[in-house]
Amino acid sequence: MARAVTGIQPSGQVHVGNWLGMIRPALTIAQDWESYFFVADWHALTSHPEPDVLRRATREIAATWLALGLDADRSTLFRQSDVPEVQELAWILGTVIPAGLLERGHAVKAARDGGREVNASTWWYPTLMAADILAYGADVVPVGADQKQHVEMARDMAIKINVRFGDDALVVPEPRVRAEVGVVPGTDGRKMSKSYGNVVPLFDTPKRTRKAIMGIVTDSLGVDEPKDPDRCTVFQLYKLLATDDEVAEMDADLRRGRGYGYGHAKEALALVMERTVAMPRECYTEWLASPARLDEILDAGARRARVAAAATLDRLRERVGLHALRRGSLG
Ligand code: TYM
Repeated sequence: MARAVTGIQPSGQVHVGNWLGMIRPALTIAQDWESYFFVADWHALTSHPEPDVLRRATREIAATWLALGLDADRSTLFRQSDVPEVQELAWILGTVIPAGLLERGHAVKAARDGGREVNASTWWYPTLMAADILAYGADVVPVGADQKQHVEMARDMAIKINVRFGDDALVVPEPRVRAEVGVVPGTDGRKMSKSYGNVVPLFDTPKRTRKAIMGIVTDSLGVDEPKDPDRCTVFQLYKLLATDDEVAEMDADLRRGRGYGYGHAKEALALVMERTVAMPRECYTEWLASPARLDEILDAGARRARVAAAATLDRLRERVGLHALRRGSLG
């Protein structure tokens, strides 16, 4: 069966951009594909989280997937750092990437823009991410538009390895970006991102979620003036959540103006958001109250993930001329 692989960093709250851009499409893919979904805790380490915060955030991500419908018997949910084979693969991949390419990675740019140090792990970030993808033999990688570049780098690395060591050394993956979602905008109209502080949280209290929605920046057109839905962040978010009829109605209301202002649109968005997340939020809270159960699921997932990654690494070690490793009994 074809495989899908993707990850999300345990840093800050999961937001609507993560959900609509990646988690929701990934869960649809998981119905038909063998799926490996992990919490990218090694990647989160690059920004120096407090250890307890990292542990809690890791469980929050697992609880989010489960609350949104992931079936842990069918899909493999695990912590990135529980599969050491991925680091082994990253080293081998590092031998085929020009160092200059890493310099142009998103993570390096984001750290520089944010005035943070570019530590060696930040710089190495795309290599580790490629190893995440290639270790499990991913055919497709469901990601938001912002991560496409990284998946393409993984693709290039796989092709380079295959040219040198044989066509089937690594599976060449493809990014799977939902065109109709694109980049989900945040409350200030830029890409929704933890580092911009412009997120609509997914599972926060209804009050705080509503507050974030009410804070969405709009232009200053008055209630009675006609407005352009395509330039309205509230409408862009509404389109991703509401039914077709509801979307058509808001589109017409905004264009007409005459008594329909941005405040009305925000109220409608807050209602649809609450309708959509109320049930999963309850499940999320229940999952978080059972950390031992979450850890069991993650541990079981890691055992399955290691078997898949070890198969890739055993093949690759042999191809590149390394000694065969005795991994003991995995699985
Ligand atoms: P991360 O944790 O930043 O984001 C997780 C996923 O959410 C998507 N996303 C968005 N999609 C649309 N609009 C937005 N505003 C938005 N914000 C976030 C991201 O595209 C991503 O798919 N490096 C990755 C984690 C990772 C990974 C991997 C992903 C590590 N290894 C291997 C895929 C495969 C990251 O930091 O995602």
